[in-house]
Amino acid sequence: MSERPVTDRAAIDAWSKTLGRAIGGLRGAVTANRWRIVPFGPILDALGAEQPARVFDIGGGEGLLLFLADRAGLLSAGLSVDANARNIASGARALRETGAERVSVRHTDTIDAWPDEQFDAVTMIDVLHHVPPQAQEAFVDAACARVRPGGLFIYKDMADNPFWMAAGNRLHDLVLARQWIHYAPVASVEAWTAHAGFGLERSEVIDILWYRHELRVFRKAPSREG
Ligand SMILES: C[S@@+](CC[C@H](N)C(=O)[O-])C[C@H]1O[C@@H](n2cnc3c(N)ncnc32)[C@H](O)[C@@H]1O
Repeated sequence: MSERPVTDRAAIDAWSKTLGRAIGGLRGAVTANRWRIVPFGPILDALGAEQPARVFDIGGGEGLLLFLADRAGLLSAGLSVDANARNIASGARALRETGAERVSVRHTDTIDAWPDEQFDAVTMIDVLHHVPPQAQEAFVDAACARVRPGGLFIYKDMADNPFWMAAGNRLHDLVLARQWIHYAPVASVEAWTAHAGFGLERSEVIDILWYRHELRVFRKAPSREG
């Protein structure tokens, strides 16, 4: 277990650089600096409530979030899935090189290929806006189904307002992902998770530069047997 609080920006900076160096190139530079625009501190804090947890990270790229959680001592095991096979391959190599044995990454581009099991926590960070609007509810439902009774669903995405912030983030994705994104209203995500039996435990808006982040922590109702 790390002796530093997981919100310590210096630790998150150093760990991101470690993984970024192992990835190398432009993707490595993006990984090393992603913490500057993404509030990993509050996300790790939320994960810390379950520690040490088995975590399923959906759309986790090269595995940065689980790498940070591992370094912070919050993981017993972590699996990240992502639709980008190239990023998964370089993430797998970098995680091996850095000795992050508790973290594994797997290439999947359909929810049918997600593991058929439940985790202490499921995370979905900046992924839903890459999913076509007509598939977003099923995507969230499938994530909710992977949370054990009493476990957490930690969701963060970019806000669809104010206009200038949403447009700034849209430009970011046009340049980096070459994709026209589709914001999911956070109220819809709240309604879908409520329908799946989750209560809202934490709700936060975090502004960094022109990026407005909406963080939600949902807890699944415990099973009736306790
Ligand atoms: C903005 S990145 C976020 C990466 C990571 N969650 C983070 O915050 O560092 C979005 C990621 O979602 C992945 N993605 C998009 N659609 C997906 C899908 N249908 N299934 C799994 N991953 C997906 C992309 O490949 C990309 O790595």
